[in-house]
Amino acid sequence: MTQLIDGKKIAAQIKDEVKYDVDKLRSRGREICLAVIQVGHDPASTVYVRNKKRACAYVGIESLSYELDESASEEELIGLVEKLNENEKVTGILVQLPLPKHMSEKKVINAISPNKDVDGFHPESAGRMCRGEKGMLPCTPSGIVELLKRSDISIDGKECVVVGRSNIVGKPAALLLLRENGTVTVAHSHTKNIKDITKRADILVVAVGKPLFITADYIKEGAVVIDVGIHRDEENHLCGDVDFEDVKEKASAVTPVPGGVGPMTIAMLMRNCVAASEK
Ligand code: GUN
Repeated sequence: MTQLIDGKKIAAQIKDEVKYDVDKLRSRGREICLAVIQVGHDPASTVYVRNKKRACAYVGIESLSYELDESASEEELIGLVEKLNENEKVTGILVQLPLPKHMSEKKVINAISPNKDVDGFHPESAGRMCRGEKGMLPCTPSGIVELLKRSDISIDGKECVVVGRSNIVGKPAALLLLRENGTVTVAHSHTKNIKDITKRADILVVAVGKPLFITADYIKEGAVVIDVGIHRDEENHLCGDVDFEDVKEKASAVTPVPGGVGPMTIAMLMRNCVAASEK
């Protein structure tokens, strides 16, 4: 029987754990406050931001919203980030990506104080993760590892293949699987014979950003398949980078979309908000 990895349920457990920690910290006088910045009105970003603020309210973290117009300048955004860096009440800062084309995501991320970097995107956080030092971990990759651990799927010694090499998901996911003693291969758009690589995987993490890209012929019998993608199909239904219906018999475990990796990203963000407040 194929195991359905229930990200929604596991994320709910984590949020309840965070809520308990936040209550305890509050009773000792510590308040946690996340500043969320959105630039423009990308509908997907609006949904993500709304869900992040809802999760904050649930666990007892205050959230402050900053909405900048699409036409705002990079200087204006960096100015706001710097003001929030100085604001002692604010313990975490999140700039929702993607940013409009005229802004450099790199410059904006670099402007966030590493102590308030709840996304784990700052070069200091990335460097610490790379070296296996304590620090803020990016939420989607750490959510994937947590999802595997809480589903009793061991990573140690396993052939792990990550498809995609973005700074937000693919690259950090590869590093975190390596940290858990996986044998890690990263496949990407220039990889030759990609099926030969993905078919080696005991654990396949897919973050390519292409709907239904991975079908049954890309996976080994009994593989664990983690789908990071989220798209709308022709009928406006949500789907992932993996053709769930096609792989579900062949895989030993698979994440659904929605209800797999997505909710984990937000749960791990809540954890990072608590960690940042300790800095
Ligand atoms: N856009 C897509 N994923 C993320 C994320 O994890 N954090 C931020 N800030 N923006 C995103």
